[in-house]
Amino acid sequence: MRVLGIETSCDETGVALYDTERGLMADALYSQVAMHAEFGGVVPELASRDHTRRLLPLIEQVLEEARLSRGELDAIAYTAGPGLVGALMVGAATAHGMARALGIPVLGVHHMEGHLLAPMLEDEPPAFPFVALLVSGGHTQLVEVKGLGRYRLLGESVDDAAGEAFDKAAKMLGLDYPGGPQVARLAERGDPGRFRFPRPMTDRPGLDFSFSGLKTHTLTAIRQLEAAAELDDPARADVARAFEEAVVDTLVIKCRRALDQTGLKRLVVAGGVSANLRLRERLEHECAKRSARAYYPRGRFCTDNGAMIAYVGAQRLLAGERDEIGVMKAVPRWPMDSLEAPASGQA
Ligand code: KG4
Ligand code: ZN
Repeated sequence: MRVLGIETSCDETGVALYDTERGLMADALYSQVAMHAEFGGVVPELASRDHTRRLLPLIEQVLEEARLSRGELDAIAYTAGPGLVGALMVGAATAHGMARALGIPVLGVHHMEGHLLAPMLEDEPPAFPFVALLVSGGHTQLVEVKGLGRYRLLGESVDDAAGEAFDKAAKMLGLDYPGGPQVARLAERGDPGRFRFPRPMTDRPGLDFSFSGLKTHTLTAIRQLEAAAELDDPARADVARAFEEAVVDTLVIKCRRALDQTGLKRLVVAGGVSANLRLRERLEHECAKRSARAYYPRGRFCTDNGAMIAYVGAQRLLAGERDEIGVMKAVPRWPMDSLEAPASGQA
């Protein structure tokens, strides 16, 4: 089955073609980051308008790369949520319009399920069951994954998501949006011993996270340096390093607990923050200690992309799931543990 995947939930237009027999045939991405950077964050209306400009040319590009005509598509999958409603509508309307014209099935899929299963596109995909750490700009969750659509939420952030915390810390440090990669780059030059921020919610049992307090610690450190006229580039790097160490350490502690609690030996790490190299290094180390293994998507599939949507859509479409004709879905808030395994149950 050849499935076209469409991702438009936020500030990236992603399109890909996944063949259930041959794997990923093509993928293309247009990032709006430069456009939103001017405003310090994503402007929803600008995002929707830009998706309308980028999506059709990207679809053409992917078909050309895969050497397929539209008529050779078997189905279309699109991100139905969670995300910005206007942005989601662009993908949903395009997918439904094309599917109607071509007379093929179409399915709206969950964005975080896409992130969760993105490592399945790699050469050595993880087998079920596994623990997944989902760390993006909007979510921080630990999930026990027993199969496609069989998810048990183990813990999540009670306030800011890890990526959101990175973005906010970046702003305080005078770095551009999106801040995660920039904070990570700055932290490389920082001294890990100069500041120590707390590891929130690690002093009590449980697998929930809280990252909003780290904002206050970051701001306090910056203000103190400012007051002492010491806020130069090396000092900024020290703050970035302390912040990154605190987030990474907290994530690692909770992953370790989740592996212990479930007794599982496979850990999937996905979502934008999974691109963070220090996080990967520390998780690798933890996994090695307990003869467990960590799995990640390749770099460009850590952040939003069409390939993960095509992949998840293909699995569910294969199992017979599809949207009702003409009923497109755009669901801005959609808890992932409300998802179910496909009725034909290949999970
Ligand atoms: O998954 P994603 O592309 O979009 C959402 O669905 O949210 O994640 C984007 C988030 C942003 O907050 C960005 O700052 C963060 O992932 N991010 C990183 C890194 N690369 C991206 N955070 C820390 N270190 C990185 N290297
Ligand atoms: Zn995402």
